[in-house]
Amino acid sequence: MTEVLRVDPIHPDPALIRRAADCLRRGGLVAFPTETVYGLGAHALDRAAIQRVFTAKQRPANDPLIVHVASLAAAAPLVATIPGAARQLAGRFWPGPLTIVLRRSEQVPDEVTAGLQTVAIRVPSHPVARALIDAAQVPVAAPSANLFSRPSPTIAWHVLADLEGRIDMLLDAGATHVGLESTVLDLSGETPTVLRPGAIDLATLRELLPDVRMHRSSAARGEAMPSPGMLVKHYAPRTPVLHAGSRAAALRAMKHDAERRLERDETVAVLSYTEDLNEWRSLRVRLVDFGSEADPQVVAARLYAALRECDELNASVILVRSVTTAHPLSPAIHDRLRRAAAR
Ligand code: TXA
Ligand code: MG
Repeated sequence: MTEVLRVDPIHPDPALIRRAADCLRRGGLVAFPTETVYGLGAHALDRAAIQRVFTAKQRPANDPLIVHVASLAAAAPLVATIPGAARQLAGRFWPGPLTIVLRRSEQVPDEVTAGLQTVAIRVPSHPVARALIDAAQVPVAAPSANLFSRPSPTIAWHVLADLEGRIDMLLDAGATHVGLESTVLDLSGETPTVLRPGAIDLATLRELLPDVRMHRSSAARGEAMPSPGMLVKHYAPRTPVLHAGSRAAALRAMKHDAERRLERDETVAVLSYTEDLNEWRSLRVRLVDFGSEADPQVVAARLYAALRECDELNASVILVRSVTTAHPLSPAIHDRLRRAAAR
């Protein structure tokens, strides 16, 4: 049984937080909201609890977890050293949606880091996450609270849809704010490297870290997407086909794709920016509104819920085009669409 505790997103009831914190301290699994997405929390120094996280999510053991702490000072025992750059970044962006990868100390179990010599640390800003970590007084390992390969949860219902009965407790505080996971920045090597784009974009990081670079596999922004034909092996329910390029070119390719599929009697879902909805009037596609392309903040917040809505249409494909608005969130939105399409 998964116990659901509803809490206020700004002023959560301390008695409820205490119950959730006790559950964590005893090795239980507690899903909780962060400013990015819901996380599935476990006592980071309790190997058995960590193993339960991997089992509950059906996550492969070679994918390391982020450890959530209250402050940079609370991270100190978990890492070998805190480089100056990490101090500066923490001063500016913590609490907030930035995860920093550092060389780890002996305290961190191998189960958390998947055997790596580094550990990912984050100080979330959501008041419920902060209250929970403060009350637990232990570091909290937390991946996103979804089943492996499903979209990350941005409302409590998504967590229950994937994990009900597999976890002990869920703190329901409504929708998360950002909607995409944190930026993951690796400071353990010679050159600071963004491993996963997120709400804090490269240009903003560059103000403090002039030599920061994007990891190659996450740098695909602006690169040509493989043609839909090349993605043929991924065609399956729940797997979007992403069309890149200018609005006009991507729309043309999407419509061509949709027409071909409709001729074959396929059910076609289209995840459409509000501005594009009219383009689909004459075709028998199932539309899900992605929000206005002019407002990437809304699109980011909608993205995972919209992908789940598309899933439920039982379509053979989900057609979507990448965001073309210049905005700090656009590279992260593109990255998540690309990953969803490659799944
Ligand atoms: O916003 C977020 O980061 C959310 C909330 C819950 O905090 N968490 C999250 O966790 O997205 P998860 O497990 O879904 O993604 C963690 C990412 C993975 O891509 C993982 O490979 C990477 O962080 N990661 C964790 N530890 C790492 C390490 N030591 N070195 C490199 N990458 C690491
Ligand atoms: Mg995840």
